[in-house]
Amino acid sequence: MAPHVPPRVFVTRQLPGEALDRLSKLVNLRVWEDELPPPREALLEGVREADGLITLLTDRVDGALLAASPSLRAVSNVAVGYDNIDVAACTARRVPVGNTPGVLTETTADFAFALLMGLARRVAEADAYVRAGQWRTWSPSLLLGADVHGTTLGIAGLGQIGAAMARRARGFGMRVLYVNRHPRPELEAELGLWRVNKATLLAESDFLSLHVPLTPETRHWLGPAELAAMKPGAMVINTARGTVVDQAALIEALASGHLGGAALDVTEPEPLPMDSPLLKLPNVLMAPHIASASHATRGRMASMAVDNLLAALDGRRPPHCVNPELFT
Ligand code: DGY
Repeated sequence: MAPHVPPRVFVTRQLPGEALDRLSKLVNLRVWEDELPPPREALLEGVREADGLITLLTDRVDGALLAASPSLRAVSNVAVGYDNIDVAACTARRVPVGNTPGVLTETTADFAFALLMGLARRVAEADAYVRAGQWRTWSPSLLLGADVHGTTLGIAGLGQIGAAMARRARGFGMRVLYVNRHPRPELEAELGLWRVNKATLLAESDFLSLHVPLTPETRHWLGPAELAAMKPGAMVINTARGTVVDQAALIEALASGHLGGAALDVTEPEPLPMDSPLLKLPNVLMAPHIASASHATRGRMASMAVDNLLAALDGRRPPHCVNPELFT
């Protein structure tokens, strides 16, 4: 009987939690140890002999990578979004692609709501103010912000994270409108949400939170015309993907005073260059793409990614597969 040769797996970064320890007992594992993603050459070198690949959203998986990795038979992304992966090319090569939906829903919505609150009530500015020794007395007009309760939240994309955001907003006494490709009557009934068209969403939302996946259709979903149609003083929260927003147009709408503010966990590009005008605008709250970054959730994402990978290496359908047609 031929000896069992463990599959070779390349992982593009160390992952939090125990998942890689578990994986290391089952496969021939190579992990890219740098804090920064492998440069393209290193990524192509890493997959050259790999049977499986675990990627992050910083790693591009495309036709060229597939051509450079003839043995590859599983790709597992440690993210719910997979716009870094050419899924059609993977499907054509019969390579299953896994992602990590569900486990990060509540954590991501927590952070989106934290951004909304932080922007409305100027939390980062208040912290900087105190640390800079500017706090001299209680003042009736110091750091005045916007109320959250009693306002309208517009949600673009009522998937799992959008719905979790809606739940939080209802708990804070907000009216919630949404746009989504399909109506969600069960959520409308449960939470008292209203499905509206995009024009109404833009015109009536005091806060607009983006939860659509990045696809060719959602690229620059919020562009110059949409920004102009937004309610004056409204605020944008983006925890989806930077490219969902036309960033130059957003900067203009913020600088002109038409928009009241923006809280951005995602930008185009990432990281945001230090000379970006966004960093000069006082009504912008920034974060470095950390909406899903809790200890527990990142550990669960890593574990789910390992489960997806192992299933695919075993010829089974990954529990969370974005090209399930490979298994029908
Ligand atoms: C995702 O999962 O797509 C997030 O952007 C990172 O958690």
